[in-house]
Amino acid sequence: MTSTARFESKVAIVTGAASGIGRAAALAFAREGAAVGLVDIDLPGIEAVARSIEAAGGRAEPVLADVSDPSAVSAMVEQVVGRFGELHYAFNNAGVVGAGAPIAEMPVESWQRGIGVMLTGVFLCLKYEIPAIIASGGGAIVNTSSGAGLIGFPGMGDYVASKHGVIGLTRTAALEYVGSGIRINCICPGTARSRMVEDWMQGDPAAEAQVAGLHPIGRIAEPDEIAHAALWLCSDEASFMVGHSMVIDGGYTIQ
Ligand SMILES: NC(=O)c1ccc[n+]([C@@H]2O[C@H](COP(=O)([O-])OP(=O)(O)OC[C@H]3O[C@@H](n4cnc5c(N)ncnc54)[C@H](O)[C@@H]3O)[C@@H](O)[C@H]2O)c1
Repeated sequence: MTSTARFESKVAIVTGAASGIGRAAALAFAREGAAVGLVDIDLPGIEAVARSIEAAGGRAEPVLADVSDPSAVSAMVEQVVGRFGELHYAFNNAGVVGAGAPIAEMPVESWQRGIGVMLTGVFLCLKYEIPAIIASGGGAIVNTSSGAGLIGFPGMGDYVASKHGVIGLTRTAALEYVGSGIRINCICPGTARSRMVEDWMQGDPAAEAQVAGLHPIGRIAEPDEIAHAALWLCSDEASFMVGHSMVIDGGYTIQ
């Protein structure tokens, strides 16, 4: 097998696949031979990613689903398994930014949305993906936490709490299912050039320079640099990685 076909004949789900890190991971899974379920609330976005994958000879199934909705997540797994017959990998990655307010001023809705999408959403994905992966003979799951899963950030209590929760959930799920042939890990990215970050920077070079300066490497990441780590954790090259929180942050959290 060549290094560009680590996932030949396999099936992967990627959530948040319309944009940023999820889009990069979906395209990379497809380049390496996987059929990919593209999950997002942005239907035109996932349809565009599906067209790119199919134009390159790959297989993709766009799935419109809100990962905070239990029935939608159950149906998402059914749709992907219905189309491709099996499921081996999942990258549970969908995310949102919060209201950007200190806790006493944070709208309850911002808290509920952040926890709903990024913590309950990861729980629901695990809940419905795990039986399908076991039924397919095993595989691997990667959840997206953040540098904000490791340290606090003022004004981001909803986001920080959800991302800390993802690390605990990943460790627990890893212990529960490693004996069933599923390795479960998470990634903790630093700032990456995605839609949520571009929206925040609003094309202002000074804003990008300021964020870049917080990372000892002196720049922000491109989405591929984060996606590559998620794919490696799914691959057989990571066969002894279980319950790990992989930091990919240009040195941000070691300062
Ligand atoms: N970009 C960064 O700097 C950074 C850093 C650390 C962690 N992260 C995490 O990486 C993940 C990917 O984010 P990104 O940076 O690529 O941002 P992005 O905004 O480009 O992509 C996020 C995707 O998630 C989708 N999404 C949002 N809510 C959803 C829901 N309820 N159901 C299904 N899909 C939904 C969006 O439509 C979007 O396509 C997120 O979990 C984010 O918290 C990003």
